[in-house]
Amino acid sequence: MATPTFDFGMIGLGVMGRNLLLNMADHGFKVIGYDKDNQKTLALESSATANTVVKGVNSLQEMLNQLNSPRRIMMLVPAGQPVDDVLQGLQPLLAPDDIVIDGGNSHYTDTLRRLAWMKEKGLHFVGIGISGGEHGARTGPSIMPGGDPQAYKHLQPILESIAAKVNGDPCVAYLGKGAAGHYVKMVHNGIEYAIMQLISEIYDLLHRGAGKSNDQLHEIFNKWNEGDLQSYLVEITSEIFLKSDDKTGKKIIDLILDKAGSKGTGKWTSQDAMDLGVAIPTIDIAVAMRALSSLKDERIKASKIYHNGSPALIKNQNIVEEAGSALLFGMLICYAQGLALLKVASSELQMEIPLEDAVKVWRGGCIIRSSLLEIFYKSFQQNPGLSNILLNPEISKIVNKTIGHTRNLLVQFIQSGIPAAGLSSALGYFDAYASEQMPTNLVQAQRDFFGAHTYQRVDMAGTFHTEWQ
Ligand code: 6PG
Repeated sequence: MATPTFDFGMIGLGVMGRNLLLNMADHGFKVIGYDKDNQKTLALESSATANTVVKGVNSLQEMLNQLNSPRRIMMLVPAGQPVDDVLQGLQPLLAPDDIVIDGGNSHYTDTLRRLAWMKEKGLHFVGIGISGGEHGARTGPSIMPGGDPQAYKHLQPILESIAAKVNGDPCVAYLGKGAAGHYVKMVHNGIEYAIMQLISEIYDLLHRGAGKSNDQLHEIFNKWNEGDLQSYLVEITSEIFLKSDDKTGKKIIDLILDKAGSKGTGKWTSQDAMDLGVAIPTIDIAVAMRALSSLKDERIKASKIYHNGSPALIKNQNIVEEAGSALLFGMLICYAQGLALLKVASSELQMEIPLEDAVKVWRGGCIIRSSLLEIFYKSFQQNPGLSNILLNPEISKIVNKTIGHTRNLLVQFIQSGIPAAGLSSALGYFDAYASEQMPTNLVQAQRDFFGAHTYQRVDMAGTFHTEWQ
């Protein structure tokens, strides 16, 4: 048997697994990766930085034999059945102190099931959400671990050294019990979907509605990224408008088919919020718009029936300023919805998620990183029990500064017929959340009218029913 040498093992050397392992090696850890595909193990070794210790093997046992104890092994394989398959194969080869990590986008209920199964066998299992895409994995991702705190202690030094840093703080923290890591990552992705939807609506209005060229859009988003809207998604959007196609010389954005794919994490966020009774309408709409986008043929037919050509050009000197304010308002609402969900899920699902740490970890490395998160971090530091960031005074200042422009801009969306389901849902959510009086007294009356569902009164305690007919 070879002498154990390595600090960390990876199962699955796709681009994420490989880059994460190389990141660890760049930070002085000795790493070994397993993949049944020889091309992938070779690619791992050949892309290692000089003088780092990186090895690729095609046998799981060979990898396990060379890991220092307690063995730290991460799986980075596609979510779902592949994770169960790898775990089934791995489990008989493990010893009691070994720690197995699922670093993929697994559904949190799968993580809970696997945790229980591994625990029964006396083994440690940790679900970790990792964000930042392939570049982030190599240079500094945002890492969201949860579950067994003892096991996390053994992972902490490695994870802290490879994570993105903000003001010297690593973007990783223990985020709670059970499947908290994967839950926080799921909600991260829900917010990611919603912000992407809002950015795409603003792009549509400025492009088709106000006739801005790709070069102008690049400038607009670039400038936004230097101000209050500073964020990874605004930054990459600005870059997208510049990129030309090698084949035709045209801008690639104009050549991409308008059908969006998805792998399910946004949908899971919506499904879970529905189960918990938490309103996250902008995330729901983002999922729905991807579904609607896939109906390209039907949309073409419907557009022939209902539209005559392009929307009328919007003439408004302030459109860029209004669009920037509306995007800031909308982004804030996306975070508000996601964080409100995390707050409820944390207690309902007994995860004890420290929201302060969740937003701290999101400040760098991840897809939804933005300068707004610094403000949220301070808000939760002041009040860790904050139920909705809209109740924080600093945040209310941003809302009050942007709400007027948002309303104006939405009028223009509506008049031009350019879809703004995401932004209008953000405004609708806000208007309802900030309304002392909602029209749900009427809903209660209707429920009582047709179904004797009863209601409560504003002027006396108790449960009441009226004979309406
Ligand atoms: C990340 C991303 C990553 C992945 C998304 C894409 O944080 O690095 O969220 O996990 O790119 O899951 O999701 P869709 O394919 O569903 O858009």
